[in-house]
Amino acid sequence: MRTHYCAEVNETHIGQEITVAGWVASRRDHGGLIFIDLRDKDEVIQLVCDPADNAEAHKLAEEVRDQFVLVATGKMRARGEGLENPKLKTGKVEMVVDKLVIENRSKPMPFELNDDKVNEEIKLKYRYLELRTQKSYDIFKLRSKATIAARNVLDELDFLEVETPIITKSTPEGARDYLVPSRVHNGEFYALPQSPQLFKQLLMVGGFDRYFQIAKCFRDEDLRADRQPEFTQIDVEMSFCNQEDVIAVAEKLIHNIFDKCGYKIPTKFTRMAYTDAMEKYGSDKPDMRYDLAMVDVIDIFARCDNEIFSNIAKDTKSNRIKALKVPKGDEIFSKRQMKGFEDYVRKFGASGLGYFQMKEDGLKGPLTKFFTDEDIQAIVERCELEVGDAVFFGAGDKKLVLDYMGRFRIYLAEIMDIIPQDVFEFLWVMDFPMFEVEDGKTKAMHHAFTMPELDENGNIACDDIEDLKSVAYDIVLNGTELGGGSIRIHKEDLQKEIFKLMGISDEEAQEKFGFLLEAFKYGAPPHGGFALGLDRLIMLMTGTESIREVIAFPKTQKAQCLLTHAPSPVEDEQLKELSLRIRKQAPIA
Ligand code: AMO
Repeated sequence: MRTHYCAEVNETHIGQEITVAGWVASRRDHGGLIFIDLRDKDEVIQLVCDPADNAEAHKLAEEVRDQFVLVATGKMRARGEGLENPKLKTGKVEMVVDKLVIENRSKPMPFELNDDKVNEEIKLKYRYLELRTQKSYDIFKLRSKATIAARNVLDELDFLEVETPIITKSTPEGARDYLVPSRVHNGEFYALPQSPQLFKQLLMVGGFDRYFQIAKCFRDEDLRADRQPEFTQIDVEMSFCNQEDVIAVAEKLIHNIFDKCGYKIPTKFTRMAYTDAMEKYGSDKPDMRYDLAMVDVIDIFARCDNEIFSNIAKDTKSNRIKALKVPKGDEIFSKRQMKGFEDYVRKFGASGLGYFQMKEDGLKGPLTKFFTDEDIQAIVERCELEVGDAVFFGAGDKKLVLDYMGRFRIYLAEIMDIIPQDVFEFLWVMDFPMFEVEDGKTKAMHHAFTMPELDENGNIACDDIEDLKSVAYDIVLNGTELGGGSIRIHKEDLQKEIFKLMGISDEEAQEKFGFLLEAFKYGAPPHGGFALGLDRLIMLMTGTESIREVIAFPKTQKAQCLLTHAPSPVEDEQLKELSLRIRKQAPIA
């Protein structure tokens, strides 16, 4: 229908007749003349309907309203002196309309298209209208570029794109499964994949050597700003590789994606051990755009004249006393504010938050009276305090202290407004523990198929299961986990041993993962891989606040699609076919 997209039109077209097509972004009636801003996928052009030039087109233009669909033909001319719009590519020209076709009409918009403050529910109900905005188009253009770049670089590196099943057996990654009832096999269920983890490992057993997939994954878990029940991974697996080989592929992939999307980032990323990340930043995904690292002061507090602290300091394995220095904190924060920070950390289980201020005449604060002059000096040196600084202390159970001090670090950075925008700080977090013990249950920190650190005889050797490390790594970008991976177990015995350590009986292992254990009996190669969250990657790249903005048809925080009204009840007939009956139950909060 069109001869040109709006963005293609410029001064070189002056005097030419062209046809454009799109939606009415705005219409202004200046008495005789009607001006229409017509927008197609990514640019706006000004149409002028003059009754003196074409009475018919002008008459139609009188009917035109916002978001009507038009096809307009006319001659291009230069805009009048002072009437140019430097914000538009087409800003120096306009079309004198000769022929106007109203292809479709539109009801008044249910919300102002470019208004950021509009209630999200309305936007999601009319998601196709939100997609009509320039902001959305730009996001999805970038997403498309990133996906194509990923495919191209992995193709260059000899990876094979393979699709794995969507209705399948559950591949647990720690979340609940979405289940699909089987009609043919009454009472039995498929699960939607939480990730293609086990299939990609089986592809390695199948000898494909290098696999990738732009994979849809499904997880029924609590949703947050960076989580959706249905999301996309760039999923990669390779054989006969070590951790360094996998990391090199991941770095090349990420670098290429950013490069093709117009962002310069380093070719190699900084690394940090999991333990250091936790001890210094209280997080396994620290935001490295700012420092505010914690230091250990438990040995100094052990000598202080306060029983609460000295008792905590007796158990250096289970407890922590951490100091968080805020440069110039004493100048920035009032005493009231410093006390107020205690309320913040209490929300996360802290029993209190100590602080010191570095004044001209030395360290001051409510706790100084418990320390000798030497230990005050030791604190000043350990924390590298200078006049004007403040330092905060968290003391107690290790997990608790690291958690609330880590959150406090982020909170401080936010209120101090020290987080630089428009920078990408990547970090590899390495050497994850194999397990974490929660409520007496041993759970895999990454997943159960991760290779644990073995001794020279190939055995698991550690006294405390929580001290066992794994060959697993996460890639973190600006404090968000972008992806993760590991070297995998490829031997049946070791896999069984890990299941056993996790309290999974032989029968359960056989029932759930028998196919994997069986495959390991037929020459499984050493292998490893990783997966990047594509939605998160685009979210971070475009600086959007919510993952929903980078997914064409996202779900709400309550996992609903407001556009199609999914999930929704089904016909009794459908339930009958599946031999299912609905039991009335109180709604899940
Ligand atoms: P993991 O579970 O760490 O690893 O997932 C990899 C990446 O997927 C993204 N992601 C999500 N994105 C949006 N919404 C969600 N609900 C969601 N859950 C995860 C994150 C995350 O870093 N099979 C392993 C990978 C491997 O070992 O190769 C896996 O799925 O960006």
